[in-house]
Amino acid sequence: MAHDISRKLESKLDKKLISKLKKRQLDDGFKKGKVINEVLDKPTVMTLYKMIKDNIIAYVNGSVSAGKESLLFWAVDENNVDVALKIYLVSTSNFKKREPYIIGDPRFLKLKKGTKNLVHLWAKKEFRNLSQCYDCGISVPKPLYVTNNVLAMEFIGENGSPAKILLESKIDDDDYKESISIIKHLYKNAKLVHGDFSEYNIFKTKKGLTIFDLGSAIDLRHPNSHEFLKRDINNITRFFAKRGISVNEPSEIFEDIVK
Ligand SMILES: Nc1ncnc2c1ncn2[C@@H]1O[C@H](COP(=O)(O)OP(=O)(O)OP(=O)(O)O)[C@@H](O)[C@H]1O
Ligand SMILES: [Mg+2]
Repeated sequence: MAHDISRKLESKLDKKLISKLKKRQLDDGFKKGKVINEVLDKPTVMTLYKMIKDNIIAYVNGSVSAGKESLLFWAVDENNVDVALKIYLVSTSNFKKREPYIIGDPRFLKLKKGTKNLVHLWAKKEFRNLSQCYDCGISVPKPLYVTNNVLAMEFIGENGSPAKILLESKIDDDDYKESISIIKHLYKNAKLVHGDFSEYNIFKTKKGLTIFDLGSAIDLRHPNSHEFLKRDINNITRFFAKRGISVNEPSEIFEDIVK
């Protein structure tokens, strides 16, 4: 009986959300309700509805990118400010490869088993990492809100198009120096190692570089933090070297950061 009522309520909320989304048609005729319904599971739709109700966002405007484990949506708040929604997929995710970034991080000692739980934890972890960076003045999308598998943050870009990532940008010496300085800043001030620092996870904006995708960032106390740091330095060095920028020896950069 109670189950029935909650199911009815769910479907009512669902319809309400979709009609709210449908009211706002994009110029390109993007059927938001339809897409949302087909791509997202019901609990996620409910989570989005809750965010609308809580005035975190006014509506979802469209999808921006679809990765294997997350979707990025462009939403807008009641002041017409763009918001990026990173939605972690609960059903399809392969979280085995995420465990090394959680287990060993003392901030997440009480780890409960179960995929869904880990997905929610991952969203929370990315939110926390973003907040730690933001509080230290490191350029990241400003974290706004996290609940269940949905993370809301500042939208980096314009009109629903994300800013260009390093890979797609013209780069110079200064970008290299700034990248290394961000890794150092992360380590020294935010006490984090990114864990996936690469040309794919850095925006190049008019104001400089902005790093994102911090789900895998780990606390310095993690037993593998130095190994991850070396890998981050190697990856970004390789990228700049490939583009013809003169780079320093990764081992020297590492020593300089951890000294
Ligand atoms: N705050 C943001 N503002 C605007 N666009 C964003 C933002 N965060 C992410 N994006 C867009 O979404 C894409 C994927 O984001 P992110 O790297 O965080 O997810 P991911 O799970 O690593 O996905 P992928 O597997 O594609 O790397 C980015 O390349 C970028 O285009
Ligand atoms: Mg990424």
